[in-house]
Amino acid sequence: MNYRHGYHAGSFADVFKHLITINIIEILLRKEKPFCYLDTHAGRGIYHLHSNPMPKSRVGGGLQSPQESSGGIGKIINCEIDKSPLLVQKYLEIVKGWKYPKYYPGSPAIAKTLLRDSDHLILTELQTEEFKFLKENFKNNKNVAAHHLNGYQGLKAFLPPKERRGFILIDPPFEKTEEWNTIIEGLKEGIKKFSSGVYAIWYPIKDAKSQVFLNSIYALKLQEVLTVELSIYPKDVPLKLIGCGMLILNPPWPLKKEIQSWLPWLWERLAVNRSGDYHIYTGSH
Ligand SMILES: C[S@@+](CC[C@H](N)C(=O)[O-])C[C@H]1O[C@@H](n2cnc3c(N)ncnc32)[C@H](O)[C@@H]1O
Repeated sequence: MNYRHGYHAGSFADVFKHLITINIIEILLRKEKPFCYLDTHAGRGIYHLHSNPMPKSRVGGGLQSPQESSGGIGKIINCEIDKSPLLVQKYLEIVKGWKYPKYYPGSPAIAKTLLRDSDHLILTELQTEEFKFLKENFKNNKNVAAHHLNGYQGLKAFLPPKERRGFILIDPPFEKTEEWNTIIEGLKEGIKKFSSGVYAIWYPIKDAKSQVFLNSIYALKLQEVLTVELSIYPKDVPLKLIGCGMLILNPPWPLKKEIQSWLPWLWERLAVNRSGDYHIYTGSH
């Protein structure tokens, strides 16, 4: 396993994924009943932006600029906060609270900031070094359990959560071509054990593989599905991660409408020379 998320921390893909993560959590927080947040590929939780390891591609061969955060969080951190969408304001407040630009919060830190003491975080990370940091970063938090474990095994081990309400973030590195199928198998297992959970899966848009993946999921006719995509480069840029998507099963109401209120704003600021585009689809497309 070569992948280290430190190189990608704060990239456009992180900004997109973390905004959707916050949006889902914010909706779940509107009900008093506690819930569980399961992060199957947690990473180290918090990233030091100036001590990045050697660049490793997220999707193989698709290296981005040496400091990816400059094309992501770096492009929006100084926006006019009062004129930005409310969800973006919330996100920037969280990022600043974790001491950006020195650090950038990963999904576990973002979720931890938002969750109540009555909610519960389960974090799984397979890479030994990343796990050491993760464990250390959350060691004094009573409602956080970090496990040195394969995230797909975590789906079997920790679902259904005792709260019977849950949000499962699946954010793999896509180092191996089998990852797409591994996700599908993992999802089937997860849903068998916990069909009412909200599942969000991040995926890269680089070639035709993402559409093949989506078609396989739609064909399963599992649950209600929401697909959100953001591309910031033209389609013909060779070897680049041109965009990314999130597939959300059982999207909580009114997630779609709320994403529509900030996604165009985000594309306007992140798109390179106004290339790429954004989409939100309900059901198959
Ligand atoms: C994209 S990063 C996660 C970033 C994190 N979710 C965030 O948003 O801050 C993917 C992580 O998954 C880890 N990983 C790779 N394969 C794994 C597996 N099968 N189970 C759990 N973690 C895995 C990698 O070491 C890496 O830290």
